[in-house]
Amino acid sequence: MLSQEEADSSTAALPYNMEEWEQGYRSQPHEYDYWIDEVEGQIPAELTGTLFRNGPALFDVNGQRIHHPFDGDGMVCAIAFNEGRAHFRNRLVRTTAFEDERAAGKILYRGVFGTEKAGGWLANAFDIKLKNIANTNVIYWGDRLLALWEAAEPYRLDPYTLETIGKDDFYGLLPPGKPFGAHPKIDRSRDKDNPTLVNFALEVGLPFKIAIYETDLRGTLKRRYTHNYCGFLFIHDFVVTPNYCLLFNNPLDFNPLPFLFGFKGPGQCIKFRPDRPTEVLVIPRDPAKPMLKIKGKSGFIYHHANAFEEGDEICVDSICYESFFILEPGEDFLKVDFPKMDPGQLWRFRINLKTQTMGRELLESRCCEFPVINPQKVAQPHRYVFLGAADIPEGNTPLQAILKLDLETGDRHLWSAAPHGFNGEPIFVPRPNATQEDDGWVFNLVYDGVNNRSDLVILDGRDLSLLARLHLKHHIPYGLHGCWTNECFLP
Ligand SMILES: [Fe+2]
Repeated sequence: MLSQEEADSSTAALPYNMEEWEQGYRSQPHEYDYWIDEVEGQIPAELTGTLFRNGPALFDVNGQRIHHPFDGDGMVCAIAFNEGRAHFRNRLVRTTAFEDERAAGKILYRGVFGTEKAGGWLANAFDIKLKNIANTNVIYWGDRLLALWEAAEPYRLDPYTLETIGKDDFYGLLPPGKPFGAHPKIDRSRDKDNPTLVNFALEVGLPFKIAIYETDLRGTLKRRYTHNYCGFLFIHDFVVTPNYCLLFNNPLDFNPLPFLFGFKGPGQCIKFRPDRPTEVLVIPRDPAKPMLKIKGKSGFIYHHANAFEEGDEICVDSICYESFFILEPGEDFLKVDFPKMDPGQLWRFRINLKTQTMGRELLESRCCEFPVINPQKVAQPHRYVFLGAADIPEGNTPLQAILKLDLETGDRHLWSAAPHGFNGEPIFVPRPNATQEDDGWVFNLVYDGVNNRSDLVILDGRDLSLLARLHLKHHIPYGLHGCWTNECFLP
């Protein structure tokens, strides 16, 4: 955490207005379907395909507020491009819990990050079932569009209409009730024309079980391997290389009693332990080989950009925090004190498999999150990283900009939506037949705090110059993750 003096100095000239930022977290219960007719600039004519994006969209149930945005019901947006035009559609994911609460008109489920049923601890004690909100990511793999939430099974959607089809067993691979991670990786390092989807799932228990699934585009299982782990695991994302999966286990203590007795959500029962090292679980993709545990300097990680092998080392680029933020019971997520929180920063971790040691170096000190790369480079050395970033170089703020980092030259490009715009994860789409890693488009959904609506901004991946700004007719709450497919799902 920053000292009060440091926090005060960084609030001197904030490039944003908190009231405008808060407006981006209004619930969006409406579902739309229209051609986007208000466009500044030009949509690239060769852009053909569909951008899918997921994120929490409801921050109340019939007026009863949820505690943390991560507990909000998922909403998937699809923006389909064809011949220089774009069509927008959004649908809430009709999970069983969403339908139950809609019918009841009140909160019926506890959330991981502290949402509770009305009635205090007595109404919540010993109810340990959590709500599958399907709000974290959306992937299109094979012929399936899936909304993902890491603690439960995916929900399948119709890619044309976004209607919810129902819970999905991922081509018959997931036993009923088993989780499926929200950050699958599409690995082309072994065969660029026949990618492999690699995903992990954490099965909570004594011990925890880490399951890794590898499938081809038809959903055929190539490999499934599991490892037991004695101890608590809190892992949101992971990375792959041609030979390994790596999971960074954040140094945390977990005391489940406040959850069991109805006082807190499980995500509020975590305590960050900066005195303990981060432990990297190195899992060979050869199921016959054992898992390694390698320790390094402490930090908290949600997201990684990528990993690749280099001699005896594996390099992993990740967003790391010096502390872990918890929204305590009674606190309001809309009143979060940004300057007081530690910023996420981009680090390169070097994991030496021979010496079983881990070092790290800072790649970018500016507050940043949601690192992405050219998807063709997953599991291979990458030159460029695109990030959601702060408009100002120091301190912690909401994300208002896109930063492009050239790891070869150190060059940086920044496109900013400040002071009135707020954004999240960039999505990089390679130009068809591109020969340069950064030749493509960067999509960026920006909340416009003046006009109370969202824009889809399309930037040139080479220099982050603005190509087009597509004005939507409404706002889309700050979201999480998404994907691009070259298939165009138009009505
Ligand atoms: Fe994530």
